[in-house]
Amino acid sequence: KVIQEEIEAFVISNESEVEQFRIQFVGRKSRLASLFDGLKDVPAENRREVGQALNQLKNLAENKFNQAQESFADAKSSFEIPSDLTVSSPVQQGTLHPLTLVRSRILEIFNRMGFSVSDGPEIETDFYNFTALNFPANHPAREMQDTFFIEKGAGEIQDDVLLRTHTSNVQIRLMQHQKPPIRSVMPGRVYRNEAISARAHCLFHQVEGLYVDEKVSFKDLKDTLYHFAKEMFGKDTKVRFRPSYFPFTEPSAEMDITCLLCKGEGCNVCKQAGWVEIAGAGMVDPNVLENVGIDSTKYNGFAFGMGIERITMLKYQIKDLRLFTENDVRFLRQFN
Ligand code: PHE
Repeated sequence: KVIQEEIEAFVISNESEVEQFRIQFVGRKSRLASLFDGLKDVPAENRREVGQALNQLKNLAENKFNQAQESFADAKSSFEIPSDLTVSSPVQQGTLHPLTLVRSRILEIFNRMGFSVSDGPEIETDFYNFTALNFPANHPAREMQDTFFIEKGAGEIQDDVLLRTHTSNVQIRLMQHQKPPIRSVMPGRVYRNEAISARAHCLFHQVEGLYVDEKVSFKDLKDTLYHFAKEMFGKDTKVRFRPSYFPFTEPSAEMDITCLLCKGEGCNVCKQAGWVEIAGAGMVDPNVLENVGIDSTKYNGFAFGMGIERITMLKYQIKDLRLFTENDVRFLRQFN
């Protein structure tokens, strides 16, 4: 009885107490073991009963000892500092998302050409997403952007607050707060009301670029994007510029590169065999400069915008855009 109470009351709170407990109740020279030794002196008629009681005590002590030993072994292994600090961790580490990797690479390439990085809101007003960018009211170019508008509540649409459809809103915010020269890239999430497919999503990522200074030329724009394409996709990449239209640039262009997915055969990424569009661009429309109070007779500039998903698909030969948002670890672990 006394020993049973002692075993139950014994508090084990560190490794040396585990050892003390072992010496007293579990080891071959423990007090419990000597009681077993005394069993031979117990009168034969009581021996069975005493033996059972001792066995119960033994089980009690051993269980308590094993539990304590295990819990301190766990604690020990998780805190132990390996003797060789260069041994890699047995814990599997996560990998960066391919869009994160490519965004970093894009920013790095433009950083080296002197572009800073700027940020802006995803929930935006009509002014920053459209009006200041020279989209006239009711102009069809607004419709082309498949805008999500924000509900005021009770189903009432608030048509001047929206999810930005492009990162061009950051151009405006930047030019409002900074005087030329301005040279910045603006990465971020954008939203368009489009059906989700291998080629399109309602949520995707863009990087906008803006350069405003005195005497910026269209050649500067072409050289910048040309250099970007070679850095991103390799020096054998060919580029071509096609005339295009954006309300906020004049003249406007789109830049294609040779499709790295199908190598000229045509595929679901480069619809027109062999060429795939990677950026919209142009010279900043003087109206846009005037809208933010920059003197358009003194300054001019260029802007461009590109989709990070498209660039990532080309870079890593990914044929379905939906993979980016499905979070399948078998896909994600391939990018290191
Ligand atoms: N904002 C345009 C788009 O999303 C891309 C663009 C940016 C075009 C800058 C020209 C200049 O389609």
